Parts: sequence; C-alpha cells; structure tokens
Amino acid sequence: MGIDAASQPATGSAADFVPPHPTLSRLREAAAGCRGCHLWVDATQTVFGEGPRTADLMLVGEQPGDQEDRQGHPFVGPSGRLLDEGLEAAGIDRRRVYVTNAVKHFKFVRIELTRRRLHKKPNAAEVRACHPWLEEEIRLIKPRVIVTLGATAAQALLGPKFKVTERRGLAVPSEWAETVIATVHPSSVLRAPGDAREEARRAFFADLKRVGKLLRNGGKGE
Ligand code: URA
Ligand code: SF4
Repeated sequence: MGIDAASQPATGSAADFVPPHPTLSRLREAAAGCRGCHLWVDATQTVFGEGPRTADLMLVGEQPGDQEDRQGHPFVGPSGRLLDEGLEAAGIDRRRVYVTNAVKHFKFVRIELTRRRLHKKPNAAEVRACHPWLEEEIRLIKPRVIVTLGATAAQALLGPKFKVTERRGLAVPSEWAETVIATVHPSSVLRAPGDAREEARRAFFADLKRVGKLLRNGGKGE
C-alpha cells in the first residue's frame, strides 16, 4: 500500500492467489496475476508449467530464464534445447511430460549498458513463496515420476539439506510421487568448462535414460 513492491522482502505467498478447487487452466490464469513475492515486478510474465494433465513424468527446473521470460514458456532457451536432446536420447516424448519450475518468475540483474539480463538464483524465501503453485501442479497431475533439475528444484521438494552431487540419479523416497529423482540442471552442463562438458552431458543424459527406463517399466524399481 503505497510502497514500491520491488523494495519489499519476499515474505508473501502464492497461497493468497491460489483459487479454491482449481483446475490446471484456472491455476495458470491465477498464477498470471500472482504477486506472492516481489519477483513479478521486473519480470515480463509468469511462466507456468506446461504439459498434459495426464503426464506420468514431471520435470521441475529452477525458474524461467531470459528466453522463457520473453516467450512465456518453460525451457525454451538454451537449457531447454539441451533438455530436449536428453529426453530424445532417453526415448522420452516431451509432449507427454509436464515441465515446470520451482519459481515462476525470472529473477535477474541487468548488465549495465547492455540489453543482457543475467540470471540470479532465487533465494529460499522466493522458493517458499512460490511453492503453492508447484504443490497444486503436483496435486492435480499426480505424476508417477518427478525429476528435479538442479539444486533449487531438488531442495524445494526434498528439503534444504538435499545434495544433488551425492544423490543424483537415485530414487529418493518422498511424499510427492512414487519416484523422485534429482539430477543436475542442464545449464550446469552448458557452463561446464571445455574438457568437462562432454562428461557432464553424458552423465546428465545417463540420468535421463534411467528415467526413461523407469517409465517404460511402469515406474517401479530399476
Ligand atoms: N532454466 C530453468 O530452470 N527453467 C526454465 O524454464 C529455463 C531455464
Ligand atoms: Fe508469485 Fe512465484 Fe511470481 Fe513470486 S515468483 S510473484 S510467488 S508466481
């Protein structure tokens, strides 16, 4: 009230914007007007999850990037292209996957004198504020398998102490789905220095291949 939203701490919550008894499309509509934290102020638009309501697999990223913010769809930039390649190599049809993010608005800093916007990691309060959207997506879709991409998504669903480096590619018991598997974020593969990139890519694709196998085996065991 009379205070610039951007200067306020992220103490609000998306919960105030979740409609009662939502469908996926009503959820998406409501999320477009979310003011649950301050991140909406500088971003172009809410980037909500996308994919069929009947998806067996849900992928959870961190937050939309520059391209996603402009286009309004998750994983359509460079990370999305690598993800698409990995899914294809794993025999997973992206059209049958629900793809979303832990945080639904792009957080960034502007680089002076350029038009570039540099991704900034969302903090714990922002992830918490946005969590109700993710919870509702999971509740409505009930995916058999959830794959978290990177530390932010893993910790959003598996707790702040979860370490992707120690448990990547392994099924983690959780309340969210029959199987939850954490892997790295595709941007970490893209950022890996020359020699390490090929190995990072191979390991990321190997995790996705295990997911593909799991889905083909009916989601149970290895
Ligand atoms: N990185 C993410 O975590 N999510 C996107 O949607 C795009 C890039
Ligand atoms: Fe709402 Fe999430 Fe956007 Fe914050 S980041 S305004 S909680 S949709």
